[in-house]
Amino acid sequence: MADEKYYVTTPIYYVNDKPHIGHAYTTILADVLARYHRLLGIPTYFLTGTDEHGQKVQQAAEKNGLMPQQQCDQTVVRFQELWKRLEITHDDFIRTTEPRHKVIVQEVLQDLFDRDEIYRADYQGWYCVGCERFFVEKDLVEGNCPECGRKADAIQETNYFFRMSNYQDWLIDYIETHPEFIQPDFRANETLGFLKTKKLQDLCISRPKARLAWGIDLPFDSDFVTYVWFDALLNYITAIGYRRDDVQFNQWWPATHQLIGKDILTTHTVYWPTMLKAMGVPLPKTVFAHGWWLTGRTKMSKSLGNVVNPMEMADRFGVDAFRYFLIAEMTVGQDASFTEEAFVRRYNSDLANDLGNLLSRTVNMLGRYCDGKFPGLGKDALSGAPEKELWAAVQSAVAEMESSIDTMRLNSGLTAVLTAVRKVNQYFEIKQPWTQAKEGKTEAVGITLALAAESLRVCSALLYPVMPEKMSELRSVFGLGKPVLSQLKTFGVIKSGTPVGSPGILFPRVELNNAEATPLPPQPKKEKRGEGAASAKNMSIEPEKPEGIITYDEVMNVKLRTAKVLAAERVEGADKLLKLKIEIGEEKRQLIAGIALYYEPERVIGKTIVVVANLKSAKIRGIESQGMLLCASVGDRLTLITVDEELPSSGAVVK
Ligand code: ME8
Ligand code: MG
Repeated sequence: MADEKYYVTTPIYYVNDKPHIGHAYTTILADVLARYHRLLGIPTYFLTGTDEHGQKVQQAAEKNGLMPQQQCDQTVVRFQELWKRLEITHDDFIRTTEPRHKVIVQEVLQDLFDRDEIYRADYQGWYCVGCERFFVEKDLVEGNCPECGRKADAIQETNYFFRMSNYQDWLIDYIETHPEFIQPDFRANETLGFLKTKKLQDLCISRPKARLAWGIDLPFDSDFVTYVWFDALLNYITAIGYRRDDVQFNQWWPATHQLIGKDILTTHTVYWPTMLKAMGVPLPKTVFAHGWWLTGRTKMSKSLGNVVNPMEMADRFGVDAFRYFLIAEMTVGQDASFTEEAFVRRYNSDLANDLGNLLSRTVNMLGRYCDGKFPGLGKDALSGAPEKELWAAVQSAVAEMESSIDTMRLNSGLTAVLTAVRKVNQYFEIKQPWTQAKEGKTEAVGITLALAAESLRVCSALLYPVMPEKMSELRSVFGLGKPVLSQLKTFGVIKSGTPVGSPGILFPRVELNNAEATPLPPQPKKEKRGEGAASAKNMSIEPEKPEGIITYDEVMNVKLRTAKVLAAERVEGADKLLKLKIEIGEEKRQLIAGIALYYEPERVIGKTIVVVANLKSAKIRGIESQGMLLCASVGDRLTLITVDEELPSSGAVVK
């Protein structure tokens, strides 16, 4: 981390719709990185913003009966409010409709035109409206866009082109000699694969106004506007004073990390570097493409209705918990799955149990055994073996976090911190300060608790960029302010005699009580709230008898039968559900089961499973379900209950 500055950018987001979890993720990731670098004392600049021109925005405006600028002005607020709510600390927010951006885009265009990097030509080819990209015939996949699969339209028009093809060999060489330019590595290979097998075309950088009016005018031909990507990519430099303020520009450019989702790899690793090359501007150090957030295993999309709303998640579970989940759960580069079960599981185990509990145990015992004051550490505090081992675990979290920032493996940094937190809890079990206190070993109790508090100091500093609010609360308990990363390797920073505050519960446990979110049993959607719904709920989750005991007769009321799975398919629009055709003896039935996250349809066909055969049939997502199957589930594992040996026929009584 020898760099003397850190400049991180997010993509600028389209203002055709409200922000979703994907936008929130990239922006939170950038924020976490920016916060770490600021803590390290490195001058940091963090840029985000909105992409306000182009077809998508124009179409959204038309749909909403607004002028395009009104569409932008209304939607940009939703992004800005979300960033405020999510504690995003960007230094600047650029909108591509701002004069400071538009003027420079026009200057760049004029300069490239004057130097014959841009020329006018007739174009005949294919165009994808969704991606706003042109293709030649052989790029198409059965007549469809090779990127998104939607139908491509044949078009013929005059346009302006950037001589991107001139830079093909240069770009291949640049990527090969700058392994840090495109990260992760396999994304560099993806771009190289494309560059080495296809002839790079010149890039069409204009749109005739007759077809698209919403854009920046070409300075040399007012019948045309600038292609939205050519306009948008330039935001990364117009925002920091390109061609206006050399001091500011040279201070930050080239960017250290340009974060993007894998959907916009080509624009950032082919268009962008060739544009910069033609302009004579150095390339960013690293373009980092992260993977996709999926709902379960399904792509999020408006039409499937499975898009996670970040504002709602923050309202329900708290901003910091949401930030923590996103950073902890995704291995940057790969896809990750968002489900409420996974969220609640991680929240309860990492935050409520491990970290939250450690804080309350430590504070309670400091109150009980040390008069609520930090006892201070004698110089021998680290002489015992368990103490040495604990402090080593804490220090290895520091090292892991440091290296994970450089390599963008923040999730493994967080894992190391949580491992250290668990170590402190284990350390309590080894030292048993409650026993030490009973035996009157006051000094030993002091050391045990002081070491726990010191460990919490270091861990809270490491978690601070991810959970700034909660970690500030935690640190204030020990009279600590904003973390100073240079103190992390030092032992004994909290001052002896510091009064220990009394925190509330930092992370109250949450229960998953939403039937939609639990994988099993699949419950019919309740149309109305009423007695019927309430009693069905009671039956499924609460025991009838207070002690949780049921009678023999009650067991016998439940008819369990073996069933053979004849067919299985996914339920469209419900990523957790499979529709099964089963056979119970002579009888054929249909059953909807919440197992799709764990079983591919092919894997259940032919299995003999166990079902509740006399469950009242119910409609799930409008599809009839006649019965319920049995599964065993622990943590994020789930397995079907099957029979040990095949029986001559299905429908056998299970008892
Ligand atoms: O592409 N998982 O804007 P956009 C993770 N305006 N990240 C996701 C995601 C998901 N499911 N969905 C979206 C544009 N993202 C252009 C960019 S830059 C000069 C112009 C994130 O509103 C991810 O960062 O479609 C992706 O690259 C970005 O949102 C696309 O946002
Ligand atoms: Mg998009």
